[in-house]
Amino acid sequence: MSVLVTGGAGYIGSHVVRLLHQRSEPVVVVDDLSSGLLDRIGSSQFVQLDLASPEATQVLAKTMREHKVTAVIHLAAKKQVGVSVQQPELYYEQNIGGMANLLAAMRETGVDRLVFSSSAATYGMPDVDSVTEESACSPINPYGETKLIGEWMTANATRAWGLRASNLRYFNVAGAGWPELADTAVMNLVPIVFAALRAGRTPVVFGDDYPTADGSCIRDYVHVHDLAEAHLSALDYLERDERKFATFNVGTGAGSSVFEVLNEVKRVTGIDFEIDIQPRRAGDPPSLCADVSRIEQELGWKAKQGLPEIIESAWSAIS
Ligand code: WQD
Repeated sequence: MSVLVTGGAGYIGSHVVRLLHQRSEPVVVVDDLSSGLLDRIGSSQFVQLDLASPEATQVLAKTMREHKVTAVIHLAAKKQVGVSVQQPELYYEQNIGGMANLLAAMRETGVDRLVFSSSAATYGMPDVDSVTEESACSPINPYGETKLIGEWMTANATRAWGLRASNLRYFNVAGAGWPELADTAVMNLVPIVFAALRAGRTPVVFGDDYPTADGSCIRDYVHVHDLAEAHLSALDYLERDERKFATFNVGTGAGSSVFEVLNEVKRVTGIDFEIDIQPRRAGDPPSLCADVSRIEQELGWKAKQGLPEIIESAWSAIS
């Protein structure tokens, strides 16, 4: 009996794999290693596979049978918003095509439990600062669209053949649960600022004229270790018969502005760096925070760490 983790060699996926190992769950990781690192997955069984490839459904079904898979945690996806705007076909092929192949293999083998890595990007630019799972979903880029479509796919599989699924809408993930699992991609604020400081460059703030307290954008930063724990709670949630389908925001419920993040970086690093204020970045909502009452009530999950622990763990992982 094992758990199949797609994208398990990635930054977030490897934290999920580590926690599964800690509770002695056998794991099989499926990853194309396009951004994942094999040395992150420890003793897991491993299958290298592009989920969007023609043979994917067959290979996945064979893997599920061989490893007696009982549940899937699906994190494998392309997740760069900017790239998704320039290459939407790649994002539809990978994120939607890959998901379709995974669901086909699960249906074929009778694996009926799925935790799906969704995103706050499904909300787009909401007109409220704190969003509940019932808030309108109007994604503003192909990446966010693929995550919302992925949620529709899980809902339709639940209706069509009895899949039991939890969709997790990640807010802004950062930090490191273990130094060796730190985020090696430089695609989001925290790693971007660290990379600038280590290269002797000035960190950039995209816009200080937003309608927020200090003029910079507000986001809900959640520690990757807390996020990984939410995946195991979501998996356990599906054990009870009456629980067949649910969508959860995964954040802290508290927002931090870009300037607040930078001030935390100054405190942790001891570097009193200059800041380069640039014009706003297209597609940035002024504020996007999670209402986390549903995940707290239904899963009993609540983030344990805040911005200080996020910045401290991320910095110590690269220092
Ligand atoms: C955060 C804030 C920037 C870099 C992304 C994905 C989203 C989800 C969460 C996966 C924004 C500002 C950034 C910099 C800056 N990921 N910023 N200077 O855009 O909130 O969301 O991560 O599901 O899908 O889009 O994250 O880290 O890019 O930006 O001022 O050098 O930091 O403008 O306000 P974002 P981000």
